[in-house]
Amino acid sequence: MTNNCNPSITIIVALDEQNAIGRNGDLLCHLPADLKHFRQVTSGHTIIMGRRTFESLPKGALPNRTNIVITSDNAINYPGCIVVRSVEEAFTHCNDDEKAFIIGGGQLYRSTFHLADHLYLTRIHHTFDDADTFFPEIDFSEWRLTEKEKHKADERHQYDYSFQTYIRKSI
Ligand SMILES: NC(=O)c1ccc[n+]([C@@H]2O[C@H](COP(=O)([O-])OP(=O)(O)OC[C@H]3O[C@@H](n4cnc5c(N)ncnc54)[C@H](OP(=O)(O)O)[C@@H]3O)[C@@H](O)[C@H]2O)c1
Repeated sequence: MTNNCNPSITIIVALDEQNAIGRNGDLLCHLPADLKHFRQVTSGHTIIMGRRTFESLPKGALPNRTNIVITSDNAINYPGCIVVRSVEEAFTHCNDDEKAFIIGGGQLYRSTFHLADHLYLTRIHHTFDDADTFFPEIDFSEWRLTEKEKHKADERHQYDYSFQTYIRKSI
């Protein structure tokens, strides 16, 4: 699949030093500043997620965003969400000049990474040995770092972490 759609495709993900993103259907750790960053970056935009990621959200659809969930189950209807069967169908619900965010999880990241033109990475400076879900390998020679902000662990954040923004060099 090539990116014939017009929305700009941005991936947003929190990953550890080995690209781990999840464990037992949940996130690896709780970083309040990352949740705030996620909310600030994605609010007002369209977010696209896999069915398992949607099912991991404690309160269902995220407010102030158009929520699109991808599943092969024709019978599912999630309140507050547009439910679609494929990535292509998800993009048909995006406006031409829109920024669409792929918010996970592992399966959806793997099938859309080649389409993304922007990456918002939260790098957790730790390795979680018991992770079971991973982000694909990133060839950083193809990406230009545009922003980087490092934070130290504190009483609310167990690990050091960095917000990193990349743009694909070829766009
Ligand atoms: N660290 C982070 O930033 C982050 C972000 C999001 C999620 N996560 C974590 O990632 C884990 C979930 O990831 P996951 O890989 O297990 O599941 P997922 O990608 O969230 O969802 C997988 C399901 O979504 C549907 N799907 C996904 N991609 C599709 C595609 N290209 N075409 C058609 N259907 C597609 C399928 O649903 P059906 O089976 O219904 O057909 C598939 O079984 C959790 O641990 C979660 O906490 C981490």
